[in-house]
Amino acid sequence: MPPIQPPALYKQHFTDKSDERLELFRKLTKTFKIQSAMYPGSFVHISPSFFIPSVIYIDNDRRIPAFFADEQLAAYVESRKEHSEQLEIKFHHQNYEKSIDEPLESVDLLISQYAGFVSIACSKYLKIGGVLLANDSHGDAAMANLDPQFRLIAVVDRKGDRFTFKETGLDQYLTTRRPVEITRESLKRRGRGFGYTKPASGYLFRKIG
Ligand SMILES: C[S@@+](CC[C@H](N)C(=O)[O-])C[C@H]1O[C@@H](n2cnc3c(N)ncnc32)[C@H](O)[C@@H]1O
Repeated sequence: MPPIQPPALYKQHFTDKSDERLELFRKLTKTFKIQSAMYPGSFVHISPSFFIPSVIYIDNDRRIPAFFADEQLAAYVESRKEHSEQLEIKFHHQNYEKSIDEPLESVDLLISQYAGFVSIACSKYLKIGGVLLANDSHGDAAMANLDPQFRLIAVVDRKGDRFTFKETGLDQYLTTRRPVEITRESLKRRGRGFGYTKPASGYLFRKIG
């Protein structure tokens, strides 16, 4: 049988741009035994479902309800998935800052990628002991670093399609090149991260309380 073609929006934004980030989600799932995730501001980035049995996607873009309603989507993900569990793909078309109809402290992984301060609005859905993956494009990694419920446990290095996790020397990360005080207010005002002495493409935090 010929391979099932990717949905057009996913192809345009992720496969054609070589930005599926497959190894990131493959490694995360394996390292932290992830079974469930929430992805606020996901757009149509459905590659986490290739590795994680149950994923809740949330986005308020007007194009996305049709994408998730398409019957071909499940068949496509099924053809790409690398786990043997039953697939569960949920989608909420809403602002993730509003209440989401999902149980509190229920997911193993919270994904924050280029979509604002997900860690503020959605950490309540993450289990204690669960993992937050955040990048600092919009300052969310720095925001999580200020939050006492999160502890930085690793950084993610990206070289093209290759992703590696580094768990040592973490105190060298998220420290600014210039002497500025990072606060919740300054991060919200800027809406992006600061210049760091040692940048990383991603940051992994454990929810400790
Ligand atoms: C730059 S895209 C990033 C998409 C994906 N996370 C990725 O890494 O490729 C940001 C997405 O976040 C969504 N978004 C931003 N703020 C949001 C909010 N408050 N509620 C729901 N979706 C939001 C936008 O609609 C957009 O689809």
